Amino acid sequence: MKKEPFHNFVVDHMTFLVEPDLYKTTYALMRIVFGVSREDLIYEKRSNWPGQKKPSSMTFAARVGVERGARVPAQTIFAVVQPTEPKGRSSHVRTMLKNRGGSCHWQHVALRTPDLLAFHAFALARGVNFITPILKDADEDLIQVFSGEWTMPGAAKPSATFFEFVQRDPSAELLKQLETASNREAWFRDKTFLGLYQEKENEYKRGRAVPFIDDALARRVAARLKGREVFEIDDALLERVEADMLDYAAARARRRK
Ligand SMILES: [Fe+2]
Repeated sequence: MKKEPFHNFVVDHMTFLVEPDLYKTTYALMRIVFGVSREDLIYEKRSNWPGQKKPSSMTFAARVGVERGARVPAQTIFAVVQPTEPKGRSSHVRTMLKNRGGSCHWQHVALRTPDLLAFHAFALARGVNFITPILKDADEDLIQVFSGEWTMPGAAKPSATFFEFVQRDPSAELLKQLETASNREAWFRDKTFLGLYQEKENEYKRGRAVPFIDDALARRVAARLKGREVFEIDDALLERVEADMLDYAAARARRRK
């Protein structure tokens, strides 16, 4: 297994869902217990549903730590999200919390890579599912893509847990390359939060979330590993699993054409 430069992942942020009744308490606990100052509040975004008198705070990001002395300091950032949709309106955040037993749920970890396009192509070629194209966030100067959910084949409920992959400070050249790519019409400019929000909303309305890898592929992987403990999985076996993934993705791509 070769580690490519784009595999050097650093945690960019982690997204934490909380029940509305726990949202303000979470804010206060982050401020007090984790020592989050006003400067460490990276953003706070509000929703304004029709008929709502006052906007409600929907999400905030709290930086709970910054590495000192590093050239590009690693930061620990929690993005806290609560469902703000009016009662009676569907809300995938509410469903995720309910499915997971309520109170709170770690929904996704965002991993920063130095080369998102290369990683994305690598993962696609191995059958990994992404629920959005690569999106650009103009505010934050980052590009990002969201994976399917980490799921048992045949699971009754979506797991509500997935990954985001980001690259910060993309060059002008890279952005231009993305904009002229074939998926140009699917490129949501400045609407990345809504891009994820809408995709997740659609999935949860359907009652089925796209899995990280298809069930059929997950079953093939599991069959290869059957009867072995983790410490018995050698590189030769991993190569066979990777070959299965490449085969599966290639066959699927041919079918889609
Ligand atoms: Fe995120």
